[in-house]
Amino acid sequence: MGRIREQLVDFRPAEQVSRVHRSIFSDQRIFDLEMKHLFEGGWVFLALESQLPEPNDFLVVRVGRHEILLMRDADHQIGAFYNTCPHRGAQICPVRTGNKRLHVCPYHSWSFNSSGKNRAVKGRASGAYSPAFEEQNHDLHPIARLDSYKGLLFGSLSADVEPLESYLGDTRALLDLCVDQSEDGIEILPGTVTYTYRGNWKHQLENSTDGYHVTSVHPTYMKIARDRATEGRDDSGVDGVWDRLNSITEEKAPESHGGTLGFENGHAIVWLAGPKLPGHPLFERRKELEERCGPVKSDWMFYLRNLTIFPNLQIAENFSSILRVMRPIAPDLTEMIAYCVAPKGEGADARRLRLRQFEDFFNPAGLATPDDLVAYEGCQIGHHLGGPAGWLQGYERGLTALIDGPTDEARELGIEPLHAVNGDSQIGDETVFQTHYEAWSERLGPDLDALLSGSVG
Ligand code: FES
Ligand SMILES: [Fe+2]
Repeated sequence: MGRIREQLVDFRPAEQVSRVHRSIFSDQRIFDLEMKHLFEGGWVFLALESQLPEPNDFLVVRVGRHEILLMRDADHQIGAFYNTCPHRGAQICPVRTGNKRLHVCPYHSWSFNSSGKNRAVKGRASGAYSPAFEEQNHDLHPIARLDSYKGLLFGSLSADVEPLESYLGDTRALLDLCVDQSEDGIEILPGTVTYTYRGNWKHQLENSTDGYHVTSVHPTYMKIARDRATEGRDDSGVDGVWDRLNSITEEKAPESHGGTLGFENGHAIVWLAGPKLPGHPLFERRKELEERCGPVKSDWMFYLRNLTIFPNLQIAENFSSILRVMRPIAPDLTEMIAYCVAPKGEGADARRLRLRQFEDFFNPAGLATPDDLVAYEGCQIGHHLGGPAGWLQGYERGLTALIDGPTDEARELGIEPLHAVNGDSQIGDETVFQTHYEAWSERLGPDLDALLSGSVG
């Protein structure tokens, strides 16, 4: 073994070793390092630009332990500022979203415009301020980095980061599969779904790429979808889902092909090929997509795809389309913010179908998400109960199918992952999670080594 951090995350495919120590899901000290190095020390997803369409629109998001106020100013530029007053530190904006030309601090009424500039210090003339005070900058404090990829806004509280384009690397081509579905990009449909679960954020991180759990955790959803399709009981408005879902049943496995791809910086995707079916909201524009994007890219747009941009963004297009943001609150508490995303300009029937499918599968009161959350919470209970062994065995499935570099399908799409696994719908590759943990251990790095000295065995 090399570095001490490999006491927690041990990935040596050549030696057929792939394991993760369960303490990373419950240790407060590790959680604190994740906040420092991942969520407050590098690029994280903030919002879609389309959530701030008009001048003076604002949106408050969380980055690690900080609240960040996103504002579109009068010149249409988007800025990102700590949501805290330079005067005595009060929260500037107490509501999540809206439109305001001026934000007035509730404590002593200093005011700030939508560019974050201080517009007034109440009672300035009578305040006996020093010349030194007058020379200070009283504006809201911007975060260190803010950049956008095709309307997806990312920010970093640390200036010590590579450019966003290189951070995203080849996953840009996978984001394009979503954002290029319309020439005008994508939009979030009205309504935000926010929920919490009593479990570590990395359970959600892993689960989105976990094909192995589907037939165990979601039989209710699968049975209802099948019954609706085969017994003429479809009064749900979600027609067509069974055709896609059918491809991930064990019986259909020999006909299916897909896999996982792991990228630099912790990003990963699980995908499954499939035909273009009428129950897909994109079906109406399949010809336009083929002409505009070409056959390979337009085929991929219809594949089942769950993409994770490390550490906090997941875009899944499977039985509807969801954009999820993970916000860790404590080692055993996570907040999820989820939206239904869709190409701009989508027809009314396709939009209705997408929304009904979203409610059916992804809503926290839907047929799938609650089952996932129960599974995460069960893991967390298991971690706290401890167990006979610190190492978990849920990272080994797929190991002998793992290859370095791209598969033919990745090459066709013009991307070069670090690792790939190909198989049928039942392969349920688990080595892909190690992509996250390679970035995780690299970034927690020396702090993790120092923390671990003699403490974990
Ligand atoms: S804390 Fe904001 S004006 Fe005093
Ligand atoms: Fe699931």
